[in-house]
Amino acid sequence: MQIPERLVEAVSNANHLAVLTGAGVSAESGVPTFRDAQTGLWAQYRPEDLATPGAFRRQPRLVWEWYAWRRELVARVAPNPAHLALAELQGRVPRLTLITQNVDGLHQRAGSRDVIELHGNLTRTKCFAENRVVDEWPPTDEVPPRCPRCGAHLRPDVVWFEESLPAEALTRAMAASADCEVFLCVGTSTVVYPAAELPFRALAAGAVVVEINPTSTPLTARAHHVLTAAAGVALPALLRALKRD
Ligand code: OAD
Repeated sequence: MQIPERLVEAVSNANHLAVLTGAGVSAESGVPTFRDAQTGLWAQYRPEDLATPGAFRRQPRLVWEWYAWRRELVARVAPNPAHLALAELQGRVPRLTLITQNVDGLHQRAGSRDVIELHGNLTRTKCFAENRVVDEWPPTDEVPPRCPRCGAHLRPDVVWFEESLPAEALTRAMAASADCEVFLCVGTSTVVYPAAELPFRALAAGAVVVEINPTSTPLTARAHHVLTAAAGVALPALLRALKRD
Protein backbone atom coordinates (compact mmCIF):
# COMPACT_ATOMS: atom_id res chain seq x y z
CA MET A 1 0.00 0.00 0.00
CA GLN A 2 1.05 3.61 -0.62
CA ILE A 3 2.14 5.61 2.45
CA PRO A 4 1.81 9.42 2.03
CA GLU A 5 5.24 11.05 1.66
CA ARG A 6 4.44 13.67 4.32
CA LEU A 7 3.73 10.89 6.81
CA VAL A 8 7.02 9.13 6.01
CA GLU A 9 8.82 12.46 6.52
CA ALA A 10 7.07 13.15 9.82
CA VAL A 11 8.01 9.71 11.19
CA SER A 12 11.59 9.98 9.86
CA ASN A 13 12.07 13.34 11.57
CA ALA A 14 10.40 12.44 14.86
CA ASN A 15 12.46 12.22 18.02
CA HIS A 16 9.60 10.66 19.91
CA LEU A 17 6.93 8.46 18.37
CA ALA A 18 4.01 7.29 20.55
CA VAL A 19 1.85 4.36 19.49
CA LEU A 20 -1.49 3.35 21.00
CA THR A 21 -2.73 -0.10 20.06
CA GLY A 22 -6.05 -1.87 20.59
CA ALA A 23 -7.57 -5.24 19.87
CA GLY A 24 -7.41 -4.68 16.09
CA VAL A 25 -3.63 -5.10 16.15
CA SER A 26 -4.06 -8.70 17.39
CA ALA A 27 -7.01 -9.53 15.12
CA GLU A 28 -4.74 -10.91 12.39
CA SER A 29 -3.16 -13.25 14.95
CA GLY A 30 -6.59 -14.79 15.45
CA VAL A 31 -7.50 -13.05 18.72
CA PRO A 32 -11.08 -11.79 18.35
CA THR A 33 -11.44 -8.05 18.95
CA PHE A 34 -13.14 -7.14 22.19
CA ARG A 35 -16.43 -6.11 20.72
CA ASP A 36 -16.62 -9.01 18.23
CA ALA A 37 -15.45 -11.56 20.77
CA GLN A 38 -18.92 -12.57 21.83
CA THR A 39 -19.13 -15.56 19.57
CA GLY A 40 -19.50 -19.28 20.08
CA LEU A 41 -19.46 -20.33 23.69
CA TRP A 42 -19.74 -16.78 24.95
CA ALA A 43 -22.31 -15.45 22.51
CA GLN A 44 -24.92 -15.09 25.20
CA TYR A 45 -22.85 -12.67 27.34
CA ARG A 46 -22.08 -8.98 27.07
CA PRO A 47 -18.57 -7.77 28.06
CA GLU A 48 -20.16 -5.80 30.91
CA ASP A 49 -21.58 -9.05 32.29
CA LEU A 50 -18.15 -10.69 32.45
CA ALA A 51 -15.60 -7.94 32.88
CA THR A 52 -16.68 -6.16 36.07
CA PRO A 53 -15.89 -6.71 39.77
CA GLY A 54 -19.64 -7.23 40.35
CA ALA A 55 -19.77 -9.98 37.70
CA PHE A 56 -16.84 -11.70 39.41
CA ARG A 57 -18.53 -11.48 42.81
CA ARG A 58 -21.74 -12.94 41.38
CA GLN A 59 -20.23 -15.59 39.09
CA PRO A 60 -16.52 -16.06 39.88
CA ARG A 61 -16.34 -19.41 38.13
CA LEU A 62 -17.85 -18.12 34.89
CA VAL A 63 -15.56 -15.07 34.78
CA TRP A 64 -12.45 -17.13 35.64
CA GLU A 65 -13.30 -19.65 32.92
CA TRP A 66 -13.87 -16.93 30.35
CA TYR A 67 -10.39 -15.55 31.01
CA ALA A 68 -8.89 -19.07 31.11
CA TRP A 69 -10.36 -19.59 27.63
CA ARG A 70 -8.86 -16.33 26.37
CA ARG A 71 -5.49 -17.17 28.00
CA GLU A 72 -5.38 -20.52 26.21
CA LEU A 73 -6.34 -18.87 22.92
CA VAL A 74 -3.57 -16.29 23.24
CA ALA A 75 -0.99 -18.97 24.14
CA ARG A 76 -1.81 -20.78 20.88
CA VAL A 77 -1.40 -17.79 18.55
CA ALA A 78 1.68 -15.87 17.40
CA PRO A 79 2.52 -12.19 16.89
CA ASN A 80 1.57 -11.00 13.38
CA PRO A 81 3.33 -8.61 10.94
CA ALA A 82 1.80 -5.59 12.76
CA HIS A 83 3.38 -6.56 16.11
CA LEU A 84 6.68 -7.38 14.37
CA ALA A 85 6.75 -4.08 12.45
CA LEU A 86 6.19 -2.11 15.68
CA ALA A 87 9.02 -4.00 17.39
CA GLU A 88 11.34 -3.22 14.47
CA LEU A 89 10.22 0.42 14.38
CA GLN A 90 11.39 0.78 17.99
CA GLY A 91 14.96 0.23 16.78
CA ARG A 92 14.61 2.79 13.95
CA VAL A 93 13.44 5.92 15.79
CA PRO A 94 15.23 7.71 18.63
CA ARG A 95 12.37 7.04 21.04
CA LEU A 96 9.19 4.98 20.70
CA THR A 97 6.62 4.68 23.48
CA LEU A 98 4.30 1.74 22.89
CA ILE A 99 1.04 1.97 24.81
CA THR A 100 -1.41 -0.91 24.53
CA GLN A 101 -4.93 -1.63 25.68
CA ASN A 102 -4.35 -5.30 24.88
CA VAL A 103 -3.89 -7.84 27.62
CA ASP A 104 -2.47 -10.58 25.37
CA GLY A 105 1.29 -9.88 25.70
CA LEU A 106 1.80 -10.25 21.91
CA HIS A 107 3.80 -7.01 21.61
CA GLN A 108 6.35 -8.34 24.10
CA ARG A 109 6.44 -11.70 22.32
CA ALA A 110 7.20 -9.81 19.07
CA GLY A 111 10.19 -8.13 20.77
CA SER A 112 8.80 -4.73 21.83
CA ARG A 113 10.35 -3.37 25.01
CA ASP A 114 8.94 -1.24 27.83
CA VAL A 115 5.35 -1.75 26.70
CA ILE A 116 2.90 0.32 28.73
CA GLU A 117 -0.03 -2.00 29.49
CA LEU A 118 -3.03 0.17 30.29
CA HIS A 119 -5.43 -2.71 30.90
CA GLY A 120 -3.12 -5.26 32.56
CA ASN A 121 -2.09 -8.68 31.27
CA LEU A 122 -4.12 -11.88 31.00
CA THR A 123 -1.19 -14.08 31.93
CA ARG A 124 -0.86 -12.54 35.39
CA THR A 125 -3.11 -13.40 38.32
CA LYS A 126 -3.85 -11.34 41.41
CA CYS A 127 -5.76 -11.62 44.66
CA PHE A 128 -9.29 -10.19 44.42
CA ALA A 129 -9.13 -8.97 48.04
CA GLU A 130 -5.54 -7.74 48.35
CA ASN A 131 -4.98 -6.62 44.74
CA ARG A 132 -1.51 -8.19 44.88
CA VAL A 133 0.03 -10.26 42.04
CA VAL A 134 0.15 -13.97 42.93
CA ASP A 135 2.54 -16.15 40.94
CA GLU A 136 1.86 -19.54 42.48
CA TRP A 137 -0.84 -21.30 44.41
CA PRO A 138 -1.29 -24.90 45.57
CA PRO A 139 -2.94 -27.23 43.03
CA THR A 140 -6.70 -27.32 43.56
CA ASP A 141 -9.92 -28.38 41.85
CA GLU A 142 -11.59 -25.22 43.05
CA VAL A 143 -12.44 -22.68 40.34
CA PRO A 144 -11.31 -19.98 40.75
CA PRO A 145 -8.39 -20.99 42.94
CA ARG A 146 -7.78 -19.12 46.19
CA CYS A 147 -5.06 -16.75 47.35
CA PRO A 148 -2.49 -18.76 49.32
CA ARG A 149 -2.13 -15.88 51.80
CA CYS A 150 -5.68 -14.69 52.56
CA GLY A 151 -7.98 -17.30 51.02
CA ALA A 152 -9.87 -14.84 48.78
CA HIS A 153 -10.54 -15.76 45.15
CA LEU A 154 -7.80 -15.22 42.59
CA ARG A 155 -8.64 -13.21 39.47
CA PRO A 156 -6.86 -12.18 36.25
CA ASP A 157 -4.65 -9.09 36.54
CA VAL A 158 -6.64 -7.10 33.99
CA VAL A 159 -8.58 -3.86 34.31
CA TRP A 160 -12.33 -4.38 34.37
CA PHE A 161 -15.09 -1.88 33.70
CA GLU A 162 -15.63 0.34 36.78
CA GLU A 163 -11.96 -0.12 37.81
CA SER A 164 -9.14 2.42 37.63
CA LEU A 165 -6.22 1.98 35.29
CA PRO A 166 -2.80 1.32 36.84
CA ALA A 167 -1.77 4.84 37.87
CA GLU A 168 1.85 4.72 36.75
CA ALA A 169 0.98 3.29 33.32
CA LEU A 170 -1.65 5.97 32.76
CA THR A 171 0.68 8.78 33.87
CA ARG A 172 3.42 7.56 31.52
CA ALA A 173 0.95 7.19 28.64
CA MET A 174 -0.45 10.69 29.17
CA ALA A 175 3.05 12.19 29.33
CA ALA A 176 4.18 10.40 26.15
CA SER A 177 1.04 11.53 24.28
CA ALA A 178 1.72 15.15 25.19
CA ASP A 179 5.44 14.90 24.38
CA CYS A 180 5.57 12.96 21.09
CA GLU A 181 5.83 14.54 17.61
CA VAL A 182 3.95 11.69 15.92
CA PHE A 183 1.17 9.58 17.44
CA LEU A 184 -0.03 6.37 15.78
CA CYS A 185 -3.44 5.08 16.85
CA VAL A 186 -3.72 1.49 15.64
CA GLY A 187 -6.64 -0.95 15.76
CA THR A 188 -8.69 0.66 18.47
CA SER A 189 -12.31 1.76 18.36
CA THR A 190 -11.22 4.81 20.43
CA VAL A 191 -14.31 4.68 22.61
CA VAL A 192 -13.06 3.35 25.95
CA TYR A 193 -11.76 6.09 28.23
CA PRO A 194 -9.25 7.10 29.42
CA ALA A 195 -7.21 5.35 26.66
CA ALA A 196 -9.40 7.00 24.00
CA GLU A 197 -8.31 10.40 25.27
CA LEU A 198 -4.64 9.84 24.39
CA PRO A 199 -4.74 10.64 20.63
CA PHE A 200 -6.78 13.77 21.37
CA ARG A 201 -4.19 14.81 23.95
CA ALA A 202 -1.50 14.35 21.27
CA LEU A 203 -3.54 16.44 18.80
CA ALA A 204 -3.94 19.22 21.36
CA ALA A 205 -0.18 19.19 21.97
CA GLY A 206 0.51 19.63 18.23
CA ALA A 207 1.57 16.09 17.26
CA VAL A 208 0.93 14.60 13.82
CA VAL A 209 -1.80 12.03 14.55
CA VAL A 210 -2.20 8.96 12.36
CA GLU A 211 -5.01 6.43 12.50
CA ILE A 212 -4.62 2.88 11.18
CA ASN A 213 -7.99 1.13 11.14
CA PRO A 214 -10.15 -0.43 8.40
CA THR A 215 -13.24 1.25 9.88
CA SER A 216 -13.83 4.79 11.08
CA THR A 217 -13.80 5.87 14.73
CA PRO A 218 -14.38 9.09 16.67
CA LEU A 219 -10.74 9.98 15.84
CA THR A 220 -11.00 9.57 12.05
CA ALA A 221 -12.26 13.08 11.27
CA ARG A 222 -9.55 14.70 13.39
CA ALA A 223 -6.50 12.61 12.40
CA HIS A 224 -3.90 14.15 10.04
CA HIS A 225 -3.47 10.84 8.20
CA VAL A 226 -5.88 7.93 8.05
CA LEU A 227 -4.65 4.60 6.69
CA THR A 228 -7.84 2.66 6.04
CA ALA A 229 -6.24 -0.77 6.16
CA ALA A 230 -5.44 -3.71 8.38
CA ALA A 231 -2.58 -3.07 10.79
CA GLY A 232 -0.70 -6.10 9.41
CA VAL A 233 -0.64 -4.39 6.00
CA ALA A 234 -0.22 -0.71 6.94
CA LEU A 235 2.56 -1.02 9.56
CA PRO A 236 4.91 -3.18 7.43
CA ALA A 237 4.25 -0.74 4.52
CA LEU A 238 5.19 2.21 6.74
CA LEU A 239 8.35 0.39 7.83
CA ARG A 240 9.30 -0.34 4.19
CA ALA A 241 8.74 3.31 3.23
CA LEU A 242 11.00 4.43 6.12
CA LYS A 243 13.74 2.04 5.03
CA ARG A 244 13.58 3.44 1.46
CA ASP A 245 13.88 7.00 2.76
P1 OAD B 1 -12.51 -2.91 20.00
O1 OAD B 1 -12.96 -4.33 19.83
O2 OAD B 1 -13.44 -1.92 20.60
O3 OAD B 1 -12.08 -2.29 18.59
C1 OAD B 1 -11.21 -2.95 17.71
C2 OAD B 1 -10.89 -2.00 16.58
O4 OAD B 1 -9.96 -2.66 15.75
C3 OAD B 1 -12.10 -1.62 15.70
O5 OAD B 1 -12.10 -0.22 15.52
C4 OAD B 1 -11.81 -2.36 14.38
O6 OAD B 1 -12.24 -1.62 13.25
C5 OAD B 1 -10.31 -2.42 14.40
N1 OAD B 1 -9.73 -3.52 13.63
C6 OAD B 1 -10.26 -4.76 13.37
N2 OAD B 1 -9.40 -5.49 12.65
C7 OAD B 1 -8.30 -4.71 12.44
C8 OAD B 1 -7.05 -4.91 11.77
N3 OAD B 1 -6.76 -6.06 11.18
N4 OAD B 1 -6.17 -3.88 11.77
C9 OAD B 1 -6.45 -2.71 12.38
N5 OAD B 1 -7.61 -2.47 13.03
C10 OAD B 1 -8.52 -3.47 13.05
O7 OAD B 1 -11.13 -2.99 20.78
P2 OAD B 1 -10.35 -1.87 21.59
O8 OAD B 1 -10.47 -0.53 20.93
O9 OAD B 1 -9.01 -2.42 21.90
O10 OAD B 1 -10.97 -2.85 27.81
O11 OAD B 1 -11.20 -1.85 22.92
C11 OAD B 1 -10.77 -1.04 23.95
C12 OAD B 1 -11.06 -1.68 25.27
O12 OAD B 1 -12.45 -2.05 25.31
C13 OAD B 1 -10.38 -3.02 25.51
O13 OAD B 1 -9.05 -2.89 25.96
C14 OAD B 1 -11.23 -3.59 26.61
C15 OAD B 1 -12.62 -3.23 26.10
O14 OAD B 1 -13.51 -2.89 27.07
C16 OAD B 1 -10.93 -3.48 28.99
O15 OAD B 1 -10.99 -4.69 29.08
C17 OAD B 1 -10.78 -2.56 30.16
